[in-house]
Amino acid sequence: MDPGSLIPAADAIPIAAGWFRLLLLATFVLHLLAMNAMLGGAVIALAQALGGEGQPRVPPTEQAIAVKLPFTIALTVNLGVPPLLFLQVHYGNLLYTSAVLMAAWWLSIFVLAMVAYYAAYVYDFRLASLGRVRTLVIGLAVLCLLAVAFVFSNSMTLMLKPTAWTAYFANPRGTNLNLADPTLWPRYLHFVLASLAVGGLGLAGLGSWRRRRGDLGGKELVRVGLNWFIWGTLAQMADGLWFLLSLPQEIMLLFLGGSVSHTALLWLGVAMGVGALVLASKGRVPPAAAAALGTVVLMALTRDLLRAAYLKPFFSPEGLPVTAQASPALVFLAALIVGSILIFWLLRLAAGAGKES
Ligand code: HEM
Repeated sequence: MDPGSLIPAADAIPIAAGWFRLLLLATFVLHLLAMNAMLGGAVIALAQALGGEGQPRVPPTEQAIAVKLPFTIALTVNLGVPPLLFLQVHYGNLLYTSAVLMAAWWLSIFVLAMVAYYAAYVYDFRLASLGRVRTLVIGLAVLCLLAVAFVFSNSMTLMLKPTAWTAYFANPRGTNLNLADPTLWPRYLHFVLASLAVGGLGLAGLGSWRRRRGDLGGKELVRVGLNWFIWGTLAQMADGLWFLLSLPQEIMLLFLGGSVSHTALLWLGVAMGVGALVLASKGRVPPAAAAALGTVVLMALTRDLLRAAYLKPFFSPEGLPVTAQASPALVFLAALIVGSILIFWLLRLAAGAGKES
């Protein structure tokens, strides 16, 4: 069977594909940063809870994370919607197919996210009174979040491989995953390790900000956060190599000199990651955070090129018919600008009231 014949026909798009690609990448980076702070923060809190067992008081680092955790979950979920919409515009025919093949898992995302959210609220509001049981509560949140990320990695890899879609004929119950794909585990681990590292750096950033405002407890947050960043990034070096080697050979070679843009983006991203590591090891939090942000952006661009390379034999959004109706896009842009200004204003108000600082 020709796997290309399994791909549903794609819809026309109103303006050139490049605009949607830009919006997809920009909003995906925001989703990733929030997701890293959420998952990384939750894992660090769990480690602190496990390390602090037997001690009468909740460790201050755990307290600092507990207060922020529900907020990061809300941000991650809300910042997941825009990339989902832009992804549908470009790759709806592939995304929906992978979502149908693994429908039961896809639908579980919302249940898992809600359980994690509830657990995070219980953890925040009852931190002191829960005692040792808090380890179970934050452990449940971590498990649910790890499971959501795993479902996403399965779906994002399955949509790239129409050759694997024939699994539906053996199992039409919507319980397929993409476990036979050799890139699945290193890719998933890549996101989990990035979360530990970036979540750690976020914690160090919070500590550094508190320290500047005269809070002596900030120093401990910086120490713990930088440790997670350094070890997470070192582990990432090994996993990144595993991920690269797991790619199909013709795609892997694109990143090893076969294509200038693929090679330049990947290795510039790696170099920035190493730069962030060096800066973090010297305790320089703001420059390390800037370098880490650069790494995330470059890696998101690399991931986009990787997706295009996988799909090249079957499909490209650049080939979609364009209806050239600019007015909906202009209305959208105006709403985006006005909405962003309002959200910025709301956040400033909340920070002024001491609610989100
Ligand atoms: C709350 C827990 C969540 C976690 C831990 C999480 C984690 C992840 C991870 C790890 C990826 C990358 C997967 C890969 O490429 O292998 C991803 C991608 C994505 N997530 Fe989330 N996510 C969460 C919630 C959401 C929600 C609720 C939405 C939508 C409403 C969403 C929308 C997306 C989209 C659209 C992508 C793919 C973007 C692209 O391929 O360009 N996420 N997420």
